[in-house]
Amino acid sequence: SELKNIIQGIPKAELHLHIEGSFEPELMFKIAQRNQITLPYKSIASLKKAYKFNNLQEFLDIYYAGAQALLHEQDFFDLTWAYLKKVHSQNVIHVELFFDPQTHTDRRVPFPIVITGIHKALEKAKSEFGISYKLIMSYLRHLSEEEAFKTLESSLPFKHIIDGVGLDSSELGNPPSKFQRVFKASAQQGYQLVAHAGEEGPSAYIWEALDLLKVVRIDHGNRCLDDDALVKRLVEEKIPLTLCPTSNVALKVIQKMEEHPVSEMLKKGIIATIHSDDPAYFGGYMNENYYETAKALHLTLDQIQQLAVNAFKASWLNADAKQKRI
Ligand code: ADE
Ligand code: ZN
Repeated sequence: SELKNIIQGIPKAELHLHIEGSFEPELMFKIAQRNQITLPYKSIASLKKAYKFNNLQEFLDIYYAGAQALLHEQDFFDLTWAYLKKVHSQNVIHVELFFDPQTHTDRRVPFPIVITGIHKALEKAKSEFGISYKLIMSYLRHLSEEEAFKTLESSLPFKHIIDGVGLDSSELGNPPSKFQRVFKASAQQGYQLVAHAGEEGPSAYIWEALDLLKVVRIDHGNRCLDDDALVKRLVEEKIPLTLCPTSNVALKVIQKMEEHPVSEMLKKGIIATIHSDDPAYFGGYMNENYYETAKALHLTLDQIQQLAVNAFKASWLNADAKQKRI
């Protein structure tokens, strides 16, 4: 369709992507087989059937189970390379991707194995596709702050290739305040800061992410519209939100795409951006997220362009590189 062609033609930046969430069932079975790991699903079809979620936690349980197949540097390379090839075909030219080291180090896969595999694929995509990238290490919020500190420590030999830290996993009951000290220590190491907030959790968690963690972007942030003072703050301080519409529908953060808050956010002057979160589980990479959102909300071409421009504005590209894209 015309809309699909327009979206394909727009150079895009993806700022909210969990690399473990790009693990397609076919690749998962292939890697599990070569690692002689038995997945808790008999076939690709039965695995795909399990992809029906009522909330974030039901998804996370399956997402962590799938990641068990990843053991060797080559596995992390193959995972990342598959994602980069896919988004290159969708005209994505800049990515800032999350990885969850604790999902792997808790299974005794060493931190250097994880990051080296991911980084080699990013470098290959940079030279072969011209895709620029940043890497964000995300702390798992269902674990303790002490464990996050251990992860920070493990990351230090790789500081030169890590751009920032994030906070993901089970939001409810794990407020940003739990990670105040490790975020401060991460900033002291030179890392930029982001956090998931206001996906399932209340707008109070977004305030905490801003005031206590001092993040420069909010991942999701859907719930900010509950609070006018918070909206004012996001607009005045130009704090971007990295929204993930297909994810929100899949995890029942919203009941249907027509209810997605992105157009209202744009109208209020928030730097709203669109991304895929965990595309292998939610059935949409970048173009599908743009398309489904634009269709359901009747976004204008200007609004679609604005979303793409916002992502470059919100990115951690330097001023020169940004200028070229905006
Ligand atoms: N980890 C992967 N995807 C996530 C999401 N949507 N929310 C929180 N943690 C996640
Ligand atoms: Zn996410």
